[in-house]
Amino acid sequence: MTNDLYYANGTEVQLFEWAFQQQMPVMLTGPTGCGKTRFVEHMGQLLGRPVVTISCHDDLTSSDLVGRFLVSGGDVVWNDGPLTRAVKSGALCYLDEVVEARHDSLAILHSLTDHRRTLFLDRADEVVTAPEPFMLVCSYNPAYRSSLKELKPSFRQRFVTIAMNYLPPEREADVLVAEAAVDRAVAQRLVNCATTIRNADEVFHFEPPSTRVLVAAARLIAAGASELEAAHACILAPLSSDGAITEGLREIAAANLLASDGSHVQSP
Ligand SMILES: Nc1ncnc2c1ncn2[C@@H]1O[C@H](COP(=O)(O)OP(=O)(O)OP(=O)(O)O)[C@@H](O)[C@H]1O
Ligand SMILES: [Mg+2]
Repeated sequence: MTNDLYYANGTEVQLFEWAFQQQMPVMLTGPTGCGKTRFVEHMGQLLGRPVVTISCHDDLTSSDLVGRFLVSGGDVVWNDGPLTRAVKSGALCYLDEVVEARHDSLAILHSLTDHRRTLFLDRADEVVTAPEPFMLVCSYNPAYRSSLKELKPSFRQRFVTIAMNYLPPEREADVLVAEAAVDRAVAQRLVNCATTIRNADEVFHFEPPSTRVLVAAARLIAAGASELEAAHACILAPLSSDGAITEGLREIAAANLLASDGSHVQSP
């Protein structure tokens, strides 16, 4: 099922539009599964611009971004990389998890993210100035605690930053109903379960369950799973790297969700 409805969580749509008007790059921050990718796709549609997504990783080189010479039929020809193509076509270029890329690979973005709006393709001996609608959007998850990586201040301070987070409970339940076609009562119980875990985050020391895992659980329930089964598989097990579900989490789920016989077990 594909669905690209986006539920706004504040003034982010307006902020993004202003940045687009002013040709300023945007940095989205927020926990995994809170809607960053969905938001960029939505803004692409709203602004009538294609979105070119590049997933960053620590092997990503500046050549992977801008392009390289390739041998083709005995000739050596320059091939634009995805960033160059996005600049030339005036797309929204989305660099996902930008914190994963090495600093030297990101240096190429400096001239593109200030008043110059220019990409220097030194090897191809070409200078590309971004057309008006081109926009660079980056994202990263600052709470990802196992990551020791940090973006440089000289990079961060080039962007309009939009700090995203999970929707308020009522809106998050709207997302589950829209995405998975579950009853509102089911959606609300799933959201309550997640909210309890999120509020106990200090105790658990892991990244809390996201809207994404709630949508996944809701989809299993729509397919026939019980609420508890779906929550164990989609919400609780992914919280720890080994899939272990602690007693505390089990109790939270049991207190909020229905078992396969429709019963509601109250925790002590
Ligand atoms: N505001 C929202 N409106 C509609 N759906 C949402 C929203 N937020 C989250 N979702 C749902 O959660 C899913 C995950 O969202 P998305 O992929 O945008 O997260 P993300 O922030 O990009 O995560 P990651 O950092 O892991 O890439 C979406 O596919 C959608 O089902
Ligand atoms: Mg994403």
